[in-house]
Amino acid sequence: MVSVHGLIRGKEPELGRDPDTGGQVGYVLDLVQALANNATVEKVELLTRKVESPAISSDYAVDEEWLSPDSRIVRLRCGPRRYIRKEALWPYLDEFVDRTLQHFKAQDRLPDVIHTHYADAGYVGLQLSSMLNLPQIHTGHSLGRVKQQYLLEGGMSSAQVERRFRISRRIEVEEQVLDQAAMIIASTRQEADQQYGLYERTRPNKIKVIPPGLDLSRFHPPERDWHPTHAIQKEVDRFLTKPNKPMILTIARADRRKNLEGLVEAYGKNPELQERANLVIVAGNRDHISNLEESAAQILTNILLLVDDYSLNGKVSLPKHHQPDEVPDLFRLAAKRRGVFVNSAITEAFGLTLLEAAASGVPIVAPDDGGPVDIIRHCRNGLLVETLNHDALADSLLNVVTAGPRWRQWARNGLAGVKNHYAWDAHVNKYLKEVRLVIRGNRKSTRQRIELLHKPPLLRANRMLALDIDNVLIGDGGGQKKLLEWIDLHHKGTIFAVATGRSLEEALTVIRDNSVPTPDVIISSVGSEIYYGPKILPDLGWATHIHYSWRREETAIVLKEVPGLSPQPKENQAEFKISYNTNEKMPPVEEIAALLASHGLRANLIYSHGAFLDILPIRASKGRAIRYLSYKWSLPLEKILVAGDSGNDEEMLEGRTLGVVVGNYSPELEQLRGHHQIYFAKAGYAYGVLEGIEHYHFFESKGCESANLLSAE
Ligand code: GLC
Ligand code: MG
Repeated sequence: MVSVHGLIRGKEPELGRDPDTGGQVGYVLDLVQALANNATVEKVELLTRKVESPAISSDYAVDEEWLSPDSRIVRLRCGPRRYIRKEALWPYLDEFVDRTLQHFKAQDRLPDVIHTHYADAGYVGLQLSSMLNLPQIHTGHSLGRVKQQYLLEGGMSSAQVERRFRISRRIEVEEQVLDQAAMIIASTRQEADQQYGLYERTRPNKIKVIPPGLDLSRFHPPERDWHPTHAIQKEVDRFLTKPNKPMILTIARADRRKNLEGLVEAYGKNPELQERANLVIVAGNRDHISNLEESAAQILTNILLLVDDYSLNGKVSLPKHHQPDEVPDLFRLAAKRRGVFVNSAITEAFGLTLLEAAASGVPIVAPDDGGPVDIIRHCRNGLLVETLNHDALADSLLNVVTAGPRWRQWARNGLAGVKNHYAWDAHVNKYLKEVRLVIRGNRKSTRQRIELLHKPPLLRANRMLALDIDNVLIGDGGGQKKLLEWIDLHHKGTIFAVATGRSLEEALTVIRDNSVPTPDVIISSVGSEIYYGPKILPDLGWATHIHYSWRREETAIVLKEVPGLSPQPKENQAEFKISYNTNEKMPPVEEIAALLASHGLRANLIYSHGAFLDILPIRASKGRAIRYLSYKWSLPLEKILVAGDSGNDEEMLEGRTLGVVVGNYSPELEQLRGHHQIYFAKAGYAYGVLEGIEHYHFFESKGCESANLLSAE
């Protein structure tokens, strides 16, 4: 499981402490537990963000927390140490991917399936599943397009929505997940049909409706001699003149969508309802309203104003504090007082609290939309209502609290419905049935790709061979053949990478024309793009990383003034690469760099063969791509042998990598002679590479034959 945002811990989860630590966190924790309890599941790991800050419990900084013998939370660093809201996490998710790979590498087995929760984890899962060839299952929990629609209807401008919620990024990821995930889990029919229906790449047959389960050991009706904890009853009743009247209970975050103000108005406008029942609103914890987040403070203030306007003192209770373990008692108190639980939200995707009410023997009133429609259909334990209509809402509530024998029937129906449809056991059985199909499907397709069989995933590798293509791997047919035989023989545990100035298309053509097998990694366009074979999947994290400070248009305009530069043909230009042919009129590279700097532009200038100038983002080059791969796949630089012949190879030859300059090198590499770990081969082309392999005893050093290829060295 991957659930990146929020605060997650097994002991006393602090659900509802902020908008990011609520329903999803509870859902994920319950699912992990229920799966771990199932005999056919060997192990469940929940990967989440590690957070370290004096403001929160140190529990969230613990690397590993065992939940049961078969399940644990693993916390991985992602961006700053402090807690940040989910919308601010996007730039850091690639780090989460990298750390997950490192974590996997240290395990003795890869998971059979990756289940991601919410769009941020969806992004992480897209990369993991494609790089590791693992099926991805995804649960959206809430969807960007739905939120966007709702915010726009609420009067926000699209620019505001974008600024505050990075909504287009989220939606794009959701589209990709819909396209690539093996299965999408929705909680309700409405979510599957209508919400996912807003997406372009939705595929209805991929979406399975499996409602979340409920912990029935926590939620059950009050026994005859039951009493709530003293504290919570006191907290509720201290606001009420006649506490024993039936109670209209609502438990919801102070969020506009929950329509709590509408509920108070409905109650305030109906004197008979006030006569028959009290209204209890449990909206999180607070000491001072002024310390709450702005929108929550606004809602609570409005509620207090409405209580005053309608003179509801003594009839409306607004408890300030409750512990998570007192929530079941709140429901039981409502049941004991023959009350009703209301969800007054405008729309509710699922409505977990409605099920908790049902499991506690409390009839419900809920919006005639989304999850509640399924719940009422399965449980027949109350009424659906147009929640924005105050009169209708009040009438329904009155209807339930004055129902007599029907109240009992509703309470009983709810109990049975929850057991049959919404227990975690029921969920897990349906879930595993679908997951088994997904895993089987994935195995089959793997088998079909014969190439994959003798190409171990990158994760298992302990060394990498990274070769420039032109004039290194190819150029001398005899040497190439010999080198490829070597690679084939030693492929186990070794990643075969090419690093070229050519575009991906051209590189693939040359590879094919020269009968070179598809590399595990293709670094193309002078290191500005990275792909993984055999499916040629782009490394999304690399693009995000090098994007930094790159202003392609402006850079190209400034370079128009420079003498001696003429643009290369269109097919040599790329999003992160501007390339020129040069002649003797070209000023020194340092001067061109200074010119760009004087315009506030930053770029990496790479001069090769005395004839080409490539302009790349400041973070991109073949060398930096190699370092990125080294980090991402936990391969020490000393385990990477690189071979090149010209200027664009310089950065990957330098430093801790095992550098080989082939005999037929261009003059600009002469200056590397004598540098640490750079071997100048006497032989040219692929024979030069073989000479370098021998020089470094590359395939002989320890670790190559390591039996457990998954363990890091
Ligand atoms: C390849 C590319 C070209 C680039 C050169 C040097 O020939 O096609 O665009 O300038 O390598 O990196
Ligand atoms: Mg070359």
